[in-house]
Formats: sequence, structure tokens, C-alpha cells
Amino acid sequence: MDLRIGVLASGRGSNFAALIRAIQEGRLRAEIRVLVSNRKGAGALDIAREHGIPAVFLSPKGYASPEEYDRAIMEVLETYGVNFVALAGYMRYITPGFVQKFRHRMVNIHPALLPSFGGKGMYGIHVHEAVLERGCKVTGVTVHIVDEQYDHGPIVLQRCVPVMEEDTPETLAARVLEQEHQVYAEALQLFAEDRVRVEGLRVRILPKK
Ligand code: GRF
Repeated sequence: MDLRIGVLASGRGSNFAALIRAIQEGRLRAEIRVLVSNRKGAGALDIAREHGIPAVFLSPKGYASPEEYDRAIMEVLETYGVNFVALAGYMRYITPGFVQKFRHRMVNIHPALLPSFGGKGMYGIHVHEAVLERGCKVTGVTVHIVDEQYDHGPIVLQRCVPVMEEDTPETLAARVLEQEHQVYAEALQLFAEDRVRVEGLRVRILPKK
């Protein structure tokens, strides 16, 4: 499928930048039509502007409910002809109407091996702290399809990352992030090649044609 991606991000945007790079280097056959952020100071907005990608800041404050806010985002996505959504450090709940509209065409990246270390409160450095506290010897990255529950939908791709004896949450986060930057583009390329089949919570990756 022709991927016309809308990226949603709340933070620094390194995964967004990695997607831009993957497209430039020909590893990802897609177009990023717009970057939308719910945070005014998000680094992702600057990255978009630097690359000539439309950057839209939408303040949640101006909307009466999360549903109304998501409707406004959907309007922006429609304006830019988006047919696929990539969440890249987007720190908001996606309302069911939004999930429904992009069913199986909205993905998220999570810095751990789901279904472990996901869900509410499991974001950013908290994930890596929890992994270390639990004494895990491996962690990793998950790209999954977004459904109505946090960090829950069908898993498209995962990659393991070793936990080292001397790791701090920060060193672990950095090692995981390096993999995130590879894996996200790989996962999206699978959609671009029409190789993703969703069967319940299971995703089948079809062989390359
Ligand atoms: C990443 O660790 C991603 O897995 C998580 O939020 C973080 C975003 O980082 N969902 P960045 O803004 O892409 O640098």
C-alpha cells in the first residue's frame, strides 16, 4: 500500500527523525505528510520544520473532551491525505473513534518487549527502571498496532536488546533507542509491502514477493 503517514509525537522526536532518514535512504517506501503534536515545545515540531514537513501543534486545552480533540486531529490528517498513523512518543490516550478510523493502520513503538512493561505509567525512563528492578537479562523494542487499550494491540515486530550488569536506566534506554530507530522503519516497510496480516492479536508477516 502507498503509505501516506501522519506522525503523532509529544517529545524530542528521535523516532520521527529516524523515519525521515529511512525514507531518505530508501529503506522505507513512504511519505510523511504531516507531524502533529500535542505539546508546543516538542522537538519533533522543529525536526518537521527543518525537513519541510508540515508541523501542526494542536493544544488539547482548546477542546472539551478527548474525543473532540481526536476529531480535530483526524481532520488535520484528512487535510493532508494521511492513510496511516505512526505514533512516535505520543503521550496521549487514543480515543476509540480514532482507533476505529485507522483500524490496523495505526502503529506505536514501545521501548520494551510487550506484553511486559507496558500499560499506564509505563513510558520513558520508567520502563527501563522497571526492567532493571525486575532483574531482566533482556529487554527490547515492540512495534504494535494500536487498539483500544494502552500498549495492547497486535505485535508487528519485536527486537531483543541485552541488559548489561552495569546498566543504569539511562544507558539501557540509549541501547534500546538505537534499536527503536532501526525497527520502526522496518515495521512500516512491511505495511508498505502489504506483508502484514492481522488475525486477532496475531500478526502474520507474509514472505517478500
Ligand atoms: C521512545 O522510547 C518510544 O519507544 C516511546 O517514546 C519514546 C519517544 O522518543 N514510545 P522520541 O521522541 O522518538 O525520541
